[in-house]
Amino acid sequence: MIAIDLRSDTVTRPTRAMRAAMAEAEVGDDVYGEDPTVNRLEAMAAERLGHECAVFVPSGTQSNLLALLSHCERGDEYIVGQLAHTYKYEGGGAAVLGSIQPQPLDFGPDGTLDLDQVARVIKPDNIHFARTRLLCLENTQAGKVLPLDYLDQAKALADRRRLALHLDGARVFNAAVKLRVAVDRISARFDSVSFCLSKGLGAPVGSLLCGSRDLIRRARRWRKVTGGGMRQAGVIAAAGIVALQSHVERLAEDHANAQALARGMAGIAGLSVDPGQVQTNMLFLSVTAGDAASFCEHMRERGIYVSAETPIRMVTHLDFHAEHIPAVVEAAEAYFTRAA
Ligand SMILES: Cc1ncc(COP(=O)(O)O)c(C=O)c1O
Repeated sequence: MIAIDLRSDTVTRPTRAMRAAMAEAEVGDDVYGEDPTVNRLEAMAAERLGHECAVFVPSGTQSNLLALLSHCERGDEYIVGQLAHTYKYEGGGAAVLGSIQPQPLDFGPDGTLDLDQVARVIKPDNIHFARTRLLCLENTQAGKVLPLDYLDQAKALADRRRLALHLDGARVFNAAVKLRVAVDRISARFDSVSFCLSKGLGAPVGSLLCGSRDLIRRARRWRKVTGGGMRQAGVIAAAGIVALQSHVERLAEDHANAQALARGMAGIAGLSVDPGQVQTNMLFLSVTAGDAASFCEHMRERGIYVSAETPIRMVTHLDFHAEHIPAVVEAAEAYFTRAA
């Protein structure tokens, strides 16, 4: 039975080049700032994203948390998408550990937050209210790329209203590749940016938070507080360096595969998917003739794993190849023929 895992782009295994780099990595104690491989990765990330400094952390969740804790204090507020990872999927960390209040807003269909609405929920300076300090965006948001002119407008609003601007850029390289721009065209305008090495870039572990020297100094302190100070972390940072050097441009292949897969699935009566909505490496589909849970189970029995959410999510990545597409489409077709 074939195993094709489309649940997420986090499922990739480290490549041979990554394993070789990990085996050879020069290491030291990173809590003392003495791991040369971590230092190199942090310098590469900061330079690439157009920021002064970066800090290497185990996960995107921790990276976002450190950003929130470094921008905000107890009783402060951040504006964020209702379905944003930083709000919905991080265990309420900002509230649990920072006494920071979220002000969630619905994302628009294009993954943006309506800036008029953002402006309206910024609290006046008044003892009744939390202090609104930070606006958080996500790019890509469910696979959608935020337009560059929208980012300009968000930055102008943040400057005008004295908010800091954070980007959960877990997949910001997908956005840059899709827009055919260097990533700093997106990232440099933010006060902080978190991105993941362990998603489309294919590394086994790790994220980086980028920002000013001062912000990253605060984030390093919070990293230690939250137990994220690692020691000979060069072993994993080495894979991250390979990811940044070799796996950025190839994201275009994942985007093309997602598009081709969406077109294949769109031809199946009983499934609804719009290839026109697929911008990067994610596609979402609904089962219109049958039951989503039994469809996912049917796929799993054929060795094809998809994310059993509503709508169903499929994510392409380094270990998914164009040759896999016919098998996925055929397995999906078989569900409807069997049901008929
Ligand atoms: C948009 C987004 N931000 C942040 C994260 C968190 O990353 P991690 O799983 O490394 O904590 C994810 C993970 O899926 C994500 O999709």
